[in-house]
Amino acid sequence: MKCRVCREKAVIDIRRHNAAFCREHFIHHCRQQVVRAMEKFDMIAREERVLVAVSGGKDSLMLWDVLLDLGYAADGLYIGLGIGEYSDASHEKAAEFAARREAHLVVVDLETSYGFGIPGGARSVRRAACSACGLSKRYVMNDAAITGGYDVLATGHNLDDEAAVLFGNVLHWNMDALVRQRPVLPASRGFVRKVKPLIRLGERETAAYSVLNGIDYIVEECPMVEGNTGLRYKAALNELETAAPGTKNQLYFGFVERALPHFEQLGAAGGAAVGECGRCGAPTTGDVCAFCRMRETAAPSAPRGAEGSEPELDPTP
Ligand code: AMP
Ligand code: FES
Ligand code: ZN
Ligand code: ZN
Repeated sequence: MKCRVCREKAVIDIRRHNAAFCREHFIHHCRQQVVRAMEKFDMIAREERVLVAVSGGKDSLMLWDVLLDLGYAADGLYIGLGIGEYSDASHEKAAEFAARREAHLVVVDLETSYGFGIPGGARSVRRAACSACGLSKRYVMNDAAITGGYDVLATGHNLDDEAAVLFGNVLHWNMDALVRQRPVLPASRGFVRKVKPLIRLGERETAAYSVLNGIDYIVEECPMVEGNTGLRYKAALNELETAAPGTKNQLYFGFVERALPHFEQLGAAGGAAVGECGRCGAPTTGDVCAFCRMRETAAPSAPRGAEGSEPELDPTP
C-alpha cells in the first residue's frame, strides 16, 4: 500500500476516496478536508473568534488542533456534565491538550454553575440521559459563546455522526430536526452561528489523525450511553459502508445538496415565533426554556446562571 502523493509506504487507506497516504500526506489531507468544508459552506472568516466545544474526545481535540494550526483565534470550551470519573477524565484530556498547545480553555461545570449534573437532571425530568445531556450542552455552548463574545461555535461532529443522525431523522421523519441539520446554522436572535468543520472526515480518520499527532484523547464511551439509538444507526451504516464505500458520504452530502434546500423552504414557511425565556432570557418558543424547566426541577434552590453572570430577579409574582 503506497501513498497516493509520494509513493512512500502508506499508514492508512481510505476506501471511499480510493486512496492511501503516508503520515505526512494523511495529515495534510485531513487539514485540506477541513479547509474544503469551511470554504464550501462559508463557516468561519479569517478574523473571527472561534469557540471550539471540546469533549476530550478525538474529534473535537483534532478540530481544535487543526484550527490552531491554520492560524484561527480558537479557544476551547469544556462542559463538565457531572458524570463521575468519565467527566473527570475527559476534563483532564481537554486541559492537557490546552496546556500543550498553550491555548485557552473555558470550563463550565454544570453542577457548580447550575446546581445539577446529567444523571440527576435526567432523572428529575424523566428524560433519557442523552437527551438531557444534548439539551444541556446546546444551552451551555450557546450561552458561553454569546457571553464570551465569540463569533462562531464549532463542534467536532464528523461524517459518521452526521450520517447516523440524518438516518435517524429520516427514519422518524423528524422534520424540525431535518431543517436544522446543516453544516452551518446561521446566527439568529440570541443564537450564535454553529459550524461543523469535520463533516468531510470519518471517525476512523479523526482517530488516526489524533494518534499520529500525539493527541491524548478519552477512548472510553460515556457510561450513560445505554439505549442510545444513535449507536445502532452507526452500526447499520458501517455495514452498508463496508459493502459499498462512500455510502455515508452519499447519504449526507446528497441530503445537504439536494434535499436540504426543499426542507429549508418548509422551515421558513412554518416555525413557531421565538420569544425570550422568562427565567434566563435565552430564545425559546415557550414562556420558559427547556433547560430552565429541567434546572428548576433538578435543582430548585440552585444558582440561576453561569458563575459570574448577573443574578436574576426572583421570577415569582
Ligand atoms: P456528542 O454529542 O457527544 O456526539 O458530541 C458532539 C460534539 O459536541 C463534540 O464533537 C464536541 O464538539 C461537543 N461536545 C460533546 N461533549 C462536550 C463537552 N462535555 N464539553 C464541550 N463540548 C462537548
Ligand atoms: Fe451526554 Fe453521555 S455524554 S449522556
Ligand atoms: Zn506521502
Ligand atoms: Zn431559560
